Amino acid sequence: MSTVEAKTPQSETVRKHKEFLFPAVATYYQEPVALVRGEGMHVWDDQDNKYLDCFGGVLTVSVGHANPKVTAAVVKQIQTLQHTSTLYANKPQSDLAEKLYQITPGPLKKSFFTNSGTEADDTAVHAAKLATGRHEIVVLRHSYSGRSATSLSAMGHSTWRPLPAQVPGFVHARAPYCYRCPFKLTYPECGLACANDIEELISTTTTGEIAAFMAEPILGVGGFIVPPPGYFERAVEIARKHGGLFIADEVQTAWGRTGDKWFGIEHWDVQPDIITSAKGLGNGVPLGITVATEEVANKYPGLTFSTFGGNPVSMAAALAVIKFIEDEDLKTNAREVGNYLRQGLDALKEKYPVIGDVRGMGLMQGLELVKDRETKEPAPQAVNMLLEETKRRRVLIGKGGLYANVVRTGLMLNSTKDHVDELISAMDASFTAMNAA
Ligand SMILES: Cc1ncc(COP(=O)(O)O)c(C=O)c1O
Repeated sequence: MSTVEAKTPQSETVRKHKEFLFPAVATYYQEPVALVRGEGMHVWDDQDNKYLDCFGGVLTVSVGHANPKVTAAVVKQIQTLQHTSTLYANKPQSDLAEKLYQITPGPLKKSFFTNSGTEADDTAVHAAKLATGRHEIVVLRHSYSGRSATSLSAMGHSTWRPLPAQVPGFVHARAPYCYRCPFKLTYPECGLACANDIEELISTTTTGEIAAFMAEPILGVGGFIVPPPGYFERAVEIARKHGGLFIADEVQTAWGRTGDKWFGIEHWDVQPDIITSAKGLGNGVPLGITVATEEVANKYPGLTFSTFGGNPVSMAAALAVIKFIEDEDLKTNAREVGNYLRQGLDALKEKYPVIGDVRGMGLMQGLELVKDRETKEPAPQAVNMLLEETKRRRVLIGKGGLYANVVRTGLMLNSTKDHVDELISAMDASFTAMNAA
């Protein structure tokens, strides 16, 4: 075996992945990582390398890999009752629905459980259409909603869209993307032009009356785009004027991720009619939730069913995750450790001109990389290089953005400042190595 091969032995798992999975199931890194084990903030690959996981499988491992409390709840439930389907009531499902009523803002009371964020968003879209009797939905450019025909049609990204929109009725509003303002304006002098434009969007591209406005509080896959203060207040006001409900897609932003609040949208003064979520609620156990007001839920006629929706094992995991976040006060931790992370990222921006923007809330922080701070030309290659360099330093981070030039970090909610120090120092050394290359 040559020296190079000895240093980077071929992973049998990666070889089979390449041979037997759809090529579209893309992986990060030139030489993909095959993970075999996780514990707390760390994961190990099949070459026995240990990494600090700062992405959590896209903000999904929220309270640590193999969290003992969540694992115990899952094991207990799987040994007791593994499956019911929605045709039978089960205690973890009823308890989680009650808990969601208690922690979601305002009068959101009724839950429908599914398997993924995609299904959660689909359910919300259907519920809004059924509740209003209308079919047009305002969504955002740069948004991501999932893989079904409905959610593919809703999303605002060519990157993830293998087919043209299959479901009519979605109209795409300008994103509240201040770093690349679609109107070339600056907040607050802009007067929230992006929100105001929704008025013209509705009157020019719809019947004038809509079913809903659906938006992520922070555009996640879009590159952690944080709307400015006042954005949602204005956008939702316009949507309601035209008969629309407000759906907050909290697939990435919920469960304390943004600091202090359970849901990202609580940082704005608006009340959603429907909240969807998935990812971090199960800490890796698959589930999706759609929580609506009674008024909306009661207008979902006839029968509906989900084989795995409300699965007692997923429900037990979710209850354990929520309890862990409460017991450990992780919403506060997300704010405190998130602020510390932000300081570290801001300091990197001072040092490296390739960093055009630092943005996010709580433990949802990203960097937009550019070739030139004046022209803001996206630098996707720099993001790829940063991923390779940080991987060499045994730290995993994510990427995103329409131009693939945004670095995304999603440290677990129970991360500490020591983990942040490790991440920042790996990024610092990586940027330095990139400059030297
Ligand atoms: C905001 C948002 N909505 C919906 C989805 C779809 O979720 P899933 O991949 O679980 O179907 C995602 C996935 O990344 C997401 O980020």
